[in-house]
Amino acid sequence: MKGEGKVFFGSLVAVLAMIAIGAVSGCSREGEIAPETSQPAGLTPSEPAGVTPAEAASIENAKMEQAQLAHAYSDAPPEVRLGARLFNDNRLTNPGAPNLSTSCRTCHVPPEASNRERQYTDSTALSVIPANALGSKQETLRNTPTLLDVTGETSFNADGEFTSLEELLEHKLTSTHLGWLPGEEDLAKDAIFALMFYDYGEDLLAEGNYLEQFKAAKGLDLETMSRDLVVAKVIESLVDYLKVVKTHNTAAYDAMVYLNRFNEGLLGEGDTPQELSGRIFGRIANQEGRVLIRFPNVYNEETYQGLKTFYRVSPTWSGSVEGMEENIGNCIACHVPPSFTDGKFHNIGVTQAEYDAAHGEGAFAGFSVESPPAATRARVKAGDASKADLGRWNVDPSDTSFAAFMTPKLRFITQTDPYMHNGAYETLEDAIRQHMKASELAKAGTLRNADPELLTMNISERDIPQLVAFLKTLEEVPVEEYRDFRIANVRIRQDPMGEQTYDN
Ligand code: HEC
Ligand code: HEC
Repeated sequence: MKGEGKVFFGSLVAVLAMIAIGAVSGCSREGEIAPETSQPAGLTPSEPAGVTPAEAASIENAKMEQAQLAHAYSDAPPEVRLGARLFNDNRLTNPGAPNLSTSCRTCHVPPEASNRERQYTDSTALSVIPANALGSKQETLRNTPTLLDVTGETSFNADGEFTSLEELLEHKLTSTHLGWLPGEEDLAKDAIFALMFYDYGEDLLAEGNYLEQFKAAKGLDLETMSRDLVVAKVIESLVDYLKVVKTHNTAAYDAMVYLNRFNEGLLGEGDTPQELSGRIFGRIANQEGRVLIRFPNVYNEETYQGLKTFYRVSPTWSGSVEGMEENIGNCIACHVPPSFTDGKFHNIGVTQAEYDAAHGEGAFAGFSVESPPAATRARVKAGDASKADLGRWNVDPSDTSFAAFMTPKLRFITQTDPYMHNGAYETLEDAIRQHMKASELAKAGTLRNADPELLTMNISERDIPQLVAFLKTLEEVPVEEYRDFRIANVRIRQDPMGEQTYDN
């Protein structure tokens, strides 16, 4: 899959680096961080003796990737460059993890490490976590999400487990994603503290060692600080970096909105998505009537129909527009533009689909919520009917939260596959088909705790290619190129059969 080769090479080199610097044996499980284990290493490992040509090539590859990374951040402010360095530093992982060294970047693969093909997510359903004391290969519970616009959120992880980004990151740095077991939080903090002091600043993203870089970038003197304060500053630095991991509303979709003034219908305080839909369709009817719908260059009839299906809600809301009984995506009810999320939790049947596939059609209806809580934030497992991921229910066990998950954002959706909290859907077609199936089950009364918005959704196989075409227009382009969408090759949609060149 896209970008995978590079990700793999990155991990391989990291492994070689760990072996080369002796980190594997040098750091005891009891958590004494021996200074000699923190040799110059990290982002660009020195080449171990006796490497094969393939290994040498992969080391070269990793060096090039590092150079690209360094270039990507060269214009950023110093505190962002420091955060980027931490984000990419595989030494933040448990140094005792025997066979895999991971950085944030390994799972949240940034565009500059993937030929601009990934958006802070890898391309696997579930990501491999660094082997921990149990020594076994393990995977994340959920699909790795994109980090785009994450600093603007108020709730984190698919079930809203954390309500502060700093809290999430403290947990992240001291738990399984970075190779630590429950109960090892103190060891993890010791290791982060030690890394700050035993860093030689030799990787390509380094500007001096960490002590020097924290002083230069943030005016902080880590040497005067307690361990916990240093860890808090590392977290603050990561947040500095995440603040620039943003979308810019420069997709063909945004040009479409701009050219046709759909943005006049943006959701205001107290508006419902249905009211927004009504306003957009009012505008659409007006423009279509005057033959004035404008298409930016990559828009065509298919994309446009997809947009309409996405925005369309049940007829009671949309009044005058014809043909409302079909092609009702109702997508906008949950995926509210411009971010395409409402920031809320909904059940669209993903856990039920996974559970029933493992245990038989209808089995999820009998799943007991009296099971031990740990089992409700677990992978569905064939042969063990007590395991399922109940999403929001883990945080707030109320009736409506059962098997509900946070509505994902949809910008750059082409670069964040596979989809859903469990990563079980490889294509956009499959992701949409799951909504369609959920809506059919909801109407039949056989989707447990179905979200009410599924009842008014009415799409068929025919709508899927159009919705996919629309979703693809949410891929953003660099700001300089965005101009083309808004000015060059803009056409007026005349009728579904023919288009006319719009000459402005
Ligand atoms: C082993 C893979 C892996 C690594 C390494 C990893 N993450 Fe994650 N990250 C995930 C997964 C999986 C989730 C989703 C967890 C969930 O929903 O329960 C996630 C969630 C997040 C979120 C919340 C996103 C949201 O929209 O709610 C943030 C922020 C985040 N990670 C940042 C980081 C940072 C910073 C690092 C490095 C310190 C890092 N991650 C390392 C896999 C990883
Ligand atoms: C009831 C609210 C709701 C409606 C209506 C809805 N969605 Fe979703 N959508 C969700 C939720 C919640 C998820 C994630 C579910 C999960 O992970 O278990 C999701 C996931 C997705 C994903 C995968 C995103 C990712 O990053 O994994 C796509 C694509 C998507 N929806 C498109 C659509 C389209 C197109 C429509 C209209 C046909 C639509 N959605 C209607 C709530 C909704």
